[in-house]
Amino acid sequence: MQFDTIVRGGNVVTPDAMSTADVGIVGEKIAAIAPNLAASPETRIIDATGHHVIPGVLDVHVHLELPFCGTTSSDDYLSGTRAGARGGVTTLIDFAIPYAGDSLGQAADNWMKRADGKALIDYTFHICITRWNEHKDQIKGMVDRGFTTFKEFMIYESEGWQSDDRAMFGTLEKMREYGTMLLVHAESPRVLDELIARYHTPELMRQYGARLHAMTRPNFIEAEAIQRAVMWSEVTGGRLYIVHMSTAEGTDIIKRAQARGVPVVAETCVQYLVLNDDVFAREDGHLFACCPQLKKPEDSARLWRGLSDGEVSVISTDTCTFTRDQKAMWEGDWTRIPMGMPGLETLLPLAYTRGVLEQRLSLNEMCLKLSTNPARLMGLYPRKGAIEVGADADLAIIHPTATRTVDPDAMETNADWSPFEGWDLAGFARTTLSRGEVIVDDYAVVGKAGRGKWLPRRPSLK
Ligand code: URP
Ligand code: ZN
Ligand code: ZN
Repeated sequence: MQFDTIVRGGNVVTPDAMSTADVGIVGEKIAAIAPNLAASPETRIIDATGHHVIPGVLDVHVHLELPFCGTTSSDDYLSGTRAGARGGVTTLIDFAIPYAGDSLGQAADNWMKRADGKALIDYTFHICITRWNEHKDQIKGMVDRGFTTFKEFMIYESEGWQSDDRAMFGTLEKMREYGTMLLVHAESPRVLDELIARYHTPELMRQYGARLHAMTRPNFIEAEAIQRAVMWSEVTGGRLYIVHMSTAEGTDIIKRAQARGVPVVAETCVQYLVLNDDVFAREDGHLFACCPQLKKPEDSARLWRGLSDGEVSVISTDTCTFTRDQKAMWEGDWTRIPMGMPGLETLLPLAYTRGVLEQRLSLNEMCLKLSTNPARLMGLYPRKGAIEVGADADLAIIHPTATRTVDPDAMETNADWSPFEGWDLAGFARTTLSRGEVIVDDYAVVGKAGRGKWLPRRPSLK
């Protein structure tokens, strides 16, 4: 066979194993995985000796250029996908959220325009159902257009995004019928509103500052909401995916639900694994406000255990970048901090350094949580998510131990800060390939804006 590219001599991580091998690429696809593949004079050789060759990462929870909290998140499809590429991310899934009065189709069109001409890596969108009465009859049309994952938020009334139990129940019925999946942001809205109102006084804000973010979101806020969403999944049979799960209690609920056969899976985000609410004691603690809030070290420990035991299926980022200037909008009132953090560039380095090197996950398990599971759950496998013959040649080549220091000035994100600033992390991509094309070479982004493609999907869950 004549290969366009051979990735030579790396430790190649396939879904069930790893071994020293070459990966032969023809066009955009992986054509062979074996030792000592023969090259022709035209074959490009990428030396991977002494490196791990892993599947390109899928970050399936990303918000680029999102109007939110009175401003717009500052990574767009150019900076966001450059950041992803540098972190070995080759596919992202964003959330298309309808503006007031928009249909689901218009929301998808709006997000397509954001990506068009800018994206370096492949992408698609979860379609957000924000007004059940208007949107319920549009869901099937979106499935026919190639969108198979939908999203509802249990909070964010003031953004106009909130869904109630009626919407969740009705959507899950449709998910069962169509073989598609509902993603849910699970936080208990009314009790959360009550706690925020109780603490929203000038005295308490002076005393506690940004720490009020954590104080108004005790773990039961997430746990009650997950419990309720799980109930709707159980009685309808509709497939449910809990996004950005952050608590030990939530993880326990998911484990019990899965044991009795409820079709529910859960994602956590890397920040809930490696940070905790101690950050709010820092002078710049308000920068770390995200939604849901960072929790306690015991929660992180339970989430790590859930990843290795299986009840937590995916690690993502919930990238929603705000600069220091944007975060400064809070002026001492925690309810006005734009919520979210940069993340695409550091997902793989954090999961590798804190997960694999610190022996919380094996390298195969990390690839399962960052690539194979997200691809399977989101209807992108076997095209994406694994190093297998016939799959897209999306690869990240990482050094097993060499570290780089996180420095916002040297990063691709538009953020002028990082939650991980000064951390020494291994696992940045020395080389990233997307559909056979080198888009990161020697740790620098070389891919062209606009080369990323939208990924249509088919229902796969029936
Ligand atoms: O803080 C976050 N997560 N911002 C994005 C919105 C969301 O709830 O995912
Ligand atoms: Zn959310
Ligand atoms: Zn989100």
